[in-house]
Amino acid sequence: MDFKSFKIRIILIVLAAFPTVTLFSQNARIKIDTDRTIGQVDKNLFGNFVEHLGRCVYGGIYDPGSPLSDEQGFRKDVMEAVKGLNVSHVRYPGGNFVSNYHWLDGVGPANERVPRMELAWARLEPNTFGTNEFIQFCRKVGTEPYFSVNMGTGTIEEAQRWVEYCNVKDGPYYAELRKKHGFPEPYNIKYWSLGNEMDGFWQMGHLSAEDYSKKAREAAKLMRLTSPGIKLVAAGSSNYRPNADPDEWNSTILHELRDVVDYIALHIYVGNPDNNYYNFMSTPLVCEQRTKIVKGMINKEMAKADRGTREPIYIAWDEYNVWYRARTDESMQGTRALEEPYNLEDALVIAGFLNVFVRNSDVVKMADMAQLVNVIAPIWAEKNGIYKQTIYYPLALFANNIKGTSLDVFVDCGTYDTDEFFIGLGESKTKQAHVPYLDVSATYNNGEVVLCVVNRNKDKAIPTDLLCQKGEFTGAFKVFEINGPDIKSMNNFDKENVKTVTKPDINAKGIKLTYSFPAHSLTMIKGQIK
Ligand code: AHR
Repeated sequence: MDFKSFKIRIILIVLAAFPTVTLFSQNARIKIDTDRTIGQVDKNLFGNFVEHLGRCVYGGIYDPGSPLSDEQGFRKDVMEAVKGLNVSHVRYPGGNFVSNYHWLDGVGPANERVPRMELAWARLEPNTFGTNEFIQFCRKVGTEPYFSVNMGTGTIEEAQRWVEYCNVKDGPYYAELRKKHGFPEPYNIKYWSLGNEMDGFWQMGHLSAEDYSKKAREAAKLMRLTSPGIKLVAAGSSNYRPNADPDEWNSTILHELRDVVDYIALHIYVGNPDNNYYNFMSTPLVCEQRTKIVKGMINKEMAKADRGTREPIYIAWDEYNVWYRARTDESMQGTRALEEPYNLEDALVIAGFLNVFVRNSDVVKMADMAQLVNVIAPIWAEKNGIYKQTIYYPLALFANNIKGTSLDVFVDCGTYDTDEFFIGLGESKTKQAHVPYLDVSATYNNGEVVLCVVNRNKDKAIPTDLLCQKGEFTGAFKVFEINGPDIKSMNNFDKENVKTVTKPDINAKGIKLTYSFPAHSLTMIKGQIK
């Protein structure tokens, strides 16, 4: 055998022995079929949350006397940034705060309002900002209010009176009180949640699932009799500590409230305290698992519910975020509580959450990033200005582009397994197997497909064939990318290291489009299928 044939034979032997060591490696594949639909994407997937906590309200959205504020005291620079998030609705006023909040303290002439001791976050609540100021804020930024009533230290009567104050045009005392306060027209607030995290031992007025169900059912009765069109949200599980039973809580309240409520609220916070990138990047899948478990419970109850023509119960992920740094006793109290700085890997986890909501849009119909400004937030405000944290960008990209029908895409790519790790501080452990490097969602609207792809691979780009199963890709496809110099890159007042960058268009024609998704990135690709 001559030397050349010997070399060829050796190469063939190596290839046969290691078929996966690819000299001719295959691209990953994403198949898009516009007939394979999941559900309508609700605009309420892109909501947010304002709590009386730290500098979210005072020194965040509201800063009377600041040269950066308007005549009513609202920060103009903050409002501009909020508008960029295209926020569908904002949950208010808490959070843990609401369980010791009495809404009457926050209405009426400012000089008659009294400060109160605030027990949830150990601060003094001045009450200079309340219902009417919040509604003004919502109107200025073009978003819808979503109120949470106090089911902890509050009564069902107090909840009813708040609905009357907000939604009844005239006649009864609290409707007239609103008018006396200078607001002649009712606000017609549609979304109301029946308390916050009532399964948590930390909640003031914490209840058992049975006691919560009874109180929530009666509150709902009074609130609906006052304003029949409102949508009600039950407080689902938030306690995932090892000694808690979140499934038991959810199944009990869904059973008890199946004829009453319109949504069940779930909360999730994740973190990376062990500095393990790959574990952390898999945490949105925990949100997806919890979604599927609760979806099963809803389906079981809906089969026997007596809801007339009302829609089934949906899931509201009305608090989600990365939160683990500002979680010491010290950083959870006072005026600078929960000021969490974010980096690129956090932004990619947020993109993962948003992909989960879109992929499960048949049942997830509401989601709220917690929170809007300063407190675990996409917007960081100081006296002299603001900057946009890394997590601002994925939320803005989704909120401004994602609508229509969610598609069930087929994804074929490499995977990895995680170690056993803590999802969030104090929570039980998880272990995730076969985590795909590419995390994908797709939506379709009037001939336009939008693909959102997180490449979880820290080091490698992933060349991918996008395959159109019905019709053809056509014309210029827009490409947006969120990435940064490395996974720990952060933004600050001087520099935006992580932001949305518009890449050159791809000219598409036919059923295949190839794109290489860069390491540690979110890419949105948007174009027509004909
Ligand atoms: O968003 C911060 C806090 O997290 C909220 O007040 C509470 O509902 C949750 O535990």
